[in-house]
Amino acid sequence: MALEIRNVNKTYMMGTEEVRALQDVSVSIKENEYVAIMGPSGSGKSTMMNVLGCLDTPTSGEYHLGGQDVSQMNDDQLADVRNQQIGFVFQTFNLIPRANVFHNVELPLVYGGVRPSEREKMAESAIEKVGLTDRKSHKPTELSGGQRQRVAIARALVNKPSIILADEPTGNLDSTTGEEIMAILDDLHKVGNTIILVTHEKSIAEHAHRIIRLKDGRVESDITTARANGAANGVN
Ligand SMILES: Nc1ncnc2c1ncn2[C@@H]1O[C@H](COP(=O)(O)OP(=O)(O)OP(=O)(O)O)[C@@H](O)[C@H]1O
Ligand SMILES: [Mg+2]
Repeated sequence: MALEIRNVNKTYMMGTEEVRALQDVSVSIKENEYVAIMGPSGSGKSTMMNVLGCLDTPTSGEYHLGGQDVSQMNDDQLADVRNQQIGFVFQTFNLIPRANVFHNVELPLVYGGVRPSEREKMAESAIEKVGLTDRKSHKPTELSGGQRQRVAIARALVNKPSIILADEPTGNLDSTTGEEIMAILDDLHKVGNTIILVTHEKSIAEHAHRIIRLKDGRVESDITTARANGAANGVN
């Protein structure tokens, strides 16, 4: 699914002081693109990801997702879009500590109102995709960092979203484990998903076909490094 933000601003009020996290940002991303967002700390990367992921709304500007005008939606409609179209992977995994792998992965389906028998099938398939079938009953503390991030990816995948957003998915991992996570994202791209990730590392960004650099809340550069071709047309 294609997405486009146009003239997006995001301003936070801190007392009387304005923090302009995004300033007049316009970006258009086609279906099945593989995009890395880079830039210094505080440049607005997470803010942009949160807007793209419908976790936050811009102060002004437009956001179109697959032809729908997201900027006009209310919270319930945004939650539906998130549930159906978007998988979000966070740097800090954001797993529920007391729940095992299976329950962490199944959670979005519980929110989505999917019935239990269907949930089980979908969760098991997502867990299998990230190679954690033999760790299904482990809790997050009983997993390595790379395995935790794989759980987070399985959770992001479980709804079969067409867009995967990952905010520094390898930030807390050593480089070998980070490459394993990137291999999963590469596979998701190959089967037709749109991948957008934030990274500070050049070697991680090189997995993408396009690099957007932010600076002080603005797009500083937007470079296509390779043509996204050879990928399947379908999603999932
Ligand atoms: N909830 C908030 N309230 C006020 N200011 C915020 C809030 N979230 C972010 N900011 C500010 O907005 C700017 C952009 O923050 P953002 O988190 O998008 O940066 P980033 O590029 O992701 O940085 P990093 O690489 O450190 O994760 C920063 O100056 C930050 O202090
Ligand atoms: Mg950030």
